[in-house]
Amino acid sequence: MSNNRVSRRQFLSYTLTGVGGFMAAGMLMPMLRFAIDPVLQKHEGGDFVKTEHKIADLTEEPVKVDFSYEQVDAWYKSQVTDVAWVYKSGDQIIALSPVCKHLGCMVDWNGDSAHPGQFFCPCHAGRYEKNGKNIAGTPPLGPLDEFEVQEQDGYLMIGPAKANSLVK
Ligand code: FES
Repeated sequence: MSNNRVSRRQFLSYTLTGVGGFMAAGMLMPMLRFAIDPVLQKHEGGDFVKTEHKIADLTEEPVKVDFSYEQVDAWYKSQVTDVAWVYKSGDQIIALSPVCKHLGCMVDWNGDSAHPGQFFCPCHAGRYEKNGKNIAGTPPLGPLDEFEVQEQDGYLMIGPAKANSLVK
């Protein structure tokens, strides 16, 4: 007779560990997927979304541009609306994210009459220069993100957000 037989205690221990691990994985996987999914999500129909704004209408004054796209999350489709602050700087078109780098509120152009020509975050009085650079002495510690832009048939196309390339 072999001495390698599994005792009742060992069998129960292995079984409970296996079942417990399986249940823990079942609970953690959806949480993990929920946490990283937005980062991996692509806009359906390519990375760029057509807006209603004509390139020719843009000026050096930032304007708020809404754009929406269909987001597919497994079997669930939803319409997502996003916003960018867009202006011309010479020949370049700049599109900045309105999401404040402090705690994520929405910034406004010329939102503070005491500091015209800046982006202003009403939540904790954060301020940014026109190129998105955070102003020292205000809560945000980094510049506003930038969106990639393209032109199609004279219309502004907005692409994925990226780190601000205007602030040196
Ligand atoms: S969230 Fe913008 S300054 Fe705090």
